[in-house]
Amino acid sequence: MQIVDPDIEGYLAALDPGDPPFARVAAEGEALRLPIVNPAVGRFLEMLVIATGTHRVLEIGTANGYSALWLARSLPPDGEIFTMEIDPERAGLARGHFQEAGLAERVSVIVGDAARMAHKVAGPFDLIFNDGDKLQYEPLLDRLVSLLRPGGVLVTDNVLWDGEVVPGLVTPPRREPADTAAIAAYNRRLAADHRLATSFLPLRDGLAVSVRRGTS
Ligand SMILES: C[S@@+](CC[C@H](N)C(=O)[O-])C[C@H]1O[C@@H](n2cnc3c(N)ncnc32)[C@H](O)[C@@H]1O
Repeated sequence: MQIVDPDIEGYLAALDPGDPPFARVAAEGEALRLPIVNPAVGRFLEMLVIATGTHRVLEIGTANGYSALWLARSLPPDGEIFTMEIDPERAGLARGHFQEAGLAERVSVIVGDAARMAHKVAGPFDLIFNDGDKLQYEPLLDRLVSLLRPGGVLVTDNVLWDGEVVPGLVTPPRREPADTAAIAAYNRRLAADHRLATSFLPLRDGLAVSVRRGTS
């Protein structure tokens, strides 16, 4: 199920001036059937990097590097992004794209299970993009919050999961029920987490944007 009306998505897509180098990476992702974000989410991530003065980014779930390209492009020269991917082939594709885009110096691809790797990176991060294994969303939340600086932003993708988080809306369900249940539980936890101020946005497949409260 498409969350946003296709005509509205089409209208918004037509406003986008396009980004040929990134478009090639998106086309590759589509050809390989990788579940990457769309340009509207890419631009949203880039806008957040600029608006928050982000220097350090952590991404869970690299795929072929499409969202990381958007995150990396507008970082300041001393900025850096760590992106985690369990599949070495996908990590290899992503590394190639970072090279081609002249962004390789600011991107470190960490190959391995994010459940383990998230404990091997040191914070604080200004922005974290959580787009890996849905079953890990909830177990990883405390670690990700601890890696975020106060005022830092956690963005979580797929929180609406094609509408399947709404009980009975999509019948029969097409998504793995365990993933749907995990995302629904994560959303409840995120909404109730007093360490964070969270807004759920119906952009593409649903984005949760959470700011870590506090000043130190
Ligand atoms: C939704 S895709 C990421 C898409 C990417 N953020 C983008 O929009 O361009 C999720 C990725 O997470 C990877 N992944 C799945 N389980 C993982 C794990 N336990 N640790 C690290 N990466 C994992 C998958 O191989 C997949 O490439």
